[in-house]
Amino acid sequence: MPDKYLKLGILISGRGSDLQSVIDGIEKGEVAARISVVISNEPDALGLKRARRHHIPAIVVCHRDFTTRQAFEARLLEVLGEYGVGLVVLAGFMRLLTPFFLKEYPMKVINIHPALLPAFPGENVQQKAVDYGVRFAGCTVHFVDDGMDSGPIIAQAVVPVFSTDTGDVLADRILKQEHQIYPKVIHWIARGLVRVEGRRVHISGAGKDVESSLIEPVV
Ligand code: GRF
Repeated sequence: MPDKYLKLGILISGRGSDLQSVIDGIEKGEVAARISVVISNEPDALGLKRARRHHIPAIVVCHRDFTTRQAFEARLLEVLGEYGVGLVVLAGFMRLLTPFFLKEYPMKVINIHPALLPAFPGENVQQKAVDYGVRFAGCTVHFVDDGMDSGPIIAQAVVPVFSTDTGDVLADRILKQEHQIYPKVIHWIARGLVRVEGRRVHISGAGKDVESSLIEPVV
């Protein structure tokens, strides 16, 4: 693998549709990165099959096989190290990472969350947005710190919430945007366009593409 590509380690727990969007972006030549390894903490995750279909190493590191969180994270770090990973991409990975893990990848772990943070951190947030009655929802790509969905925000996409929406309908609408913005953000990071200053993230040199992704749904 030529060095000009950022090496991604993608962590999943389930379906892997966000993973698929990154695979597709790379295959279309829109993302200047390569997936070195996919790791799932759930042995039956559909995303493992998606990775293997594209000849990407797909490895199970099941948290239940470890007696401590640190031992689980040490094994994750070992695998990521073996594959020379430079950016850790969480894609529906349902475990919180502790400082023990994060200190090895400072500002090199990103996540996508199906809400407009800082509103609705945590789980089942599309249903919570519907129940709360908000008019807009969306998704957020952010750096991961040791809080719950609390790290510096890189990009967001907004969708409307209609009064007839169920949580599932809204989740589908948000997911379409996730599949647009996650590959883009990874490309920006791979190209060295993303700079973090405290809580604020600056993106430079990517032209209109960046601005339109930041302020409206990507079509
Ligand atoms: C997405 O909604 C993402 O925002 C959240 O988990 C879900 C993952 O979906 N973090 P998939 O497994 O990538 O299809």
